[in-house]
Amino acid sequence: MGAAGPGQGYPVGFRLSGHPPGAEAKRGRILYGRRLGRPLRPAQRRRLSEQLPQLQLALPETGAQLELAGLFGAPKRAFWLEVGFGAGEHLAAQAAARPDIGFIGCEPFINGVAQLVALIEEKRLDNVRIHPDDARQVLDALPDASIDRLFVLFPDPWPKARHHRRRFIGPENLPALARVMADGAELRTATDDVGYLRWMLRQLAARPEFEWLARRPTDWRERPPDWPETRYEAKALAAGRRPAFMRFRRRSGRLVTPAEMT
Ligand SMILES: C[S@@+](CC[C@H](N)C(=O)[O-])C[C@H]1O[C@@H](n2cnc3c(N)ncnc32)[C@H](O)[C@@H]1O
Repeated sequence: MGAAGPGQGYPVGFRLSGHPPGAEAKRGRILYGRRLGRPLRPAQRRRLSEQLPQLQLALPETGAQLELAGLFGAPKRAFWLEVGFGAGEHLAAQAAARPDIGFIGCEPFINGVAQLVALIEEKRLDNVRIHPDDARQVLDALPDASIDRLFVLFPDPWPKARHHRRRFIGPENLPALARVMADGAELRTATDDVGYLRWMLRQLAARPEFEWLARRPTDWRERPPDWPETRYEAKALAAGRRPAFMRFRRRSGRLVTPAEMT
């Protein structure tokens, strides 16, 4: 892996993060995963250069909070966040179905960002903002209880034990997800990796802020109708792996501190 930079296929002027360079490294955070796949086609580069600046989420200085109310031209009744939107098909479909919701999508893989920008253009969406970088930067900037639905679909499973700490649904990020989720908000996640599934359920069961909404096996074996298929789901099914689809509700109440967890 390794972060790509200027000269490695990014459009001229492409800004990876609203934070000053090195801010994340100083906090000891490393982003795992690819930034760039196959070289962008000229049309994708042009689309990114021309359209991403208007679509890109402007993060405040480190430590300041993001003002969600002024993010979109028209007021929005709620805000939904997708972490790791991949090629953006789920996010674009949700945004097209719900123009009254403001969507924020985070994805450091620039080829995926280019695909979402194309979908936004094709569907003429005006309710999506993109953070083409690490979702943890957005989580840090979001006000408490500001997100009504949060998607982390097919996060990288990092199957080797020594890589488990890289898993997005894990002890580092769950308090941040619980903090930004409003009372009653929903976390939707999916995986086709049995090891990660067990890990997710263990990690989420350990946090009193989350309640798993499954009551019967079909609740997690079948994708709900308002949950469009993603590329990774299609890949998993084609390879004969059966994904699990999980919905968790943010229980009302304050964030539980580490001392209270022991
Ligand atoms: C296995 S892919 C799944 C993509 C998509 N959700 C799907 O279901 O097709 C996981 C995605 O998460 C992204 N990702 C990994 N770490 C991330 C982070 N810290 N913030 C935002 N996205 C991240 C990766 O770049 C990758 O595109």
